[in-house]
Amino acid sequence: MKIGILKETQKGEKRVSISPNIAKQLIAKNFQVIVEDGAGTNSSFKNSDYRNIGAEVEKRGVVFKEADILIKINPFDKDDLKLVNKGQILMSQLFHKSNPELIKAIAAKGVSAFSMDAMPRISRAQDMDVLSSQSNLAGYKAVIRGAYEMTKIFPLMMTAAGTITPARVLVYGVGVAGLQAIATAKRLGAIVEATDIRLETKEQTESLGAKFITVEANGENNEGVYAKAASEEYAKRQKEAVNKSLFQADLVITTAMVPGRKSPILITEEQVKQMKNGAVIIDLAADQGGNCELSKMYKTVIKNGVKIIGTTISPESVSTNASELFAKNMYNFILHLTDGNTFKWDLDEEITDKTLIIQDGIIRQNGKTK
Ligand code: NAI
Repeated sequence: MKIGILKETQKGEKRVSISPNIAKQLIAKNFQVIVEDGAGTNSSFKNSDYRNIGAEVEKRGVVFKEADILIKINPFDKDDLKLVNKGQILMSQLFHKSNPELIKAIAAKGVSAFSMDAMPRISRAQDMDVLSSQSNLAGYKAVIRGAYEMTKIFPLMMTAAGTITPARVLVYGVGVAGLQAIATAKRLGAIVEATDIRLETKEQTESLGAKFITVEANGENNEGVYAKAASEEYAKRQKEAVNKSLFQADLVITTAMVPGRKSPILITEEQVKQMKNGAVIIDLAADQGGNCELSKMYKTVIKNGVKIIGTTISPESVSTNASELFAKNMYNFILHLTDGNTFKWDLDEEITDKTLIIQDGIIRQNGKTK
């Protein structure tokens, strides 16, 4: 079976779905690998790196023509669909719930399509979970970006000229990105506090040496893997509990998201006005509306001396590592779906069932082919 690796075409995207190292491992498992010319360039992987491990490097049209499985990170788009052929298997993030028109267009090509973002959150799927591997890097990078934008350093420093007090960092949302942000800020020497609607994250926060700000739960059931949308009552209590830390913070990182919904506003303009002059907010939820009322995607807004940076959770800026992790997730997924060189199509198995969005041109719903 031939695996085709496509060059990403989305603006600003620097990653590639399969690194040379993982391509080598796929070849060792008896797959053939064909890579689009220049696919790895923005992740520091040369065509020769792929050729040296036994992959073919070809022009775009040849990859579409020859591959049995086509892999991308971002959803296949209209230009890609002009080139796909009936019977091919597509793998990428498809965000199918918010892209119904795209799903119809893909189905019309008579292909099968798996969506990596539909991966179930179960233990045995952890090593195939691209959202986690990418969010982890985003959490790290948010702290590094924050450190760069701040006019202060992170650690306590005692010098002959005086003592520098450590920076104060506040993290909203202790999911995968938030946990990595806490760990990174701690490593750099900051005083770190964090809050989350899911109270089970208190222990995780404390295990990293940070302080958890508990927002009194009042009948809300927030146990479980996914956060539910918070009530207005909760948002009010959260402000009361967190404001003191927010107004002292030098860097605030927001990562709070609710699957399938606009991200909640956790920091209002009114709160920003009371923050320290020179403070920085890195809003990782900006592409879903943002956790700060003033955030604008891909923009830096300055309000009352506070720098609010609306950024994305996609860690394009660390494309080498991001590609390597994405590729490892894909490798585990491909091996999970196949037996030797053939697909198992085991639709009674949860990972296959949840990620297979289109089967032979038919859109599947609720685990069934319509
Ligand atoms: P996420 O990206 O969906 O959200 C980030 C965090 O924001 C979550 O912890 C959420 O509780 C929090 N949040 C949402 N609304 C909030 C509000 N109003 N105020 C404060 N915090 C709010 O979360 P992510 O990173 O996807 O992880 C969520 C959980 O799922 C984690 O426990 C993670 O370990 C788990 N997970 C498990 C996987 C598996 O078992 N295969 C794979 C991926 C995640």
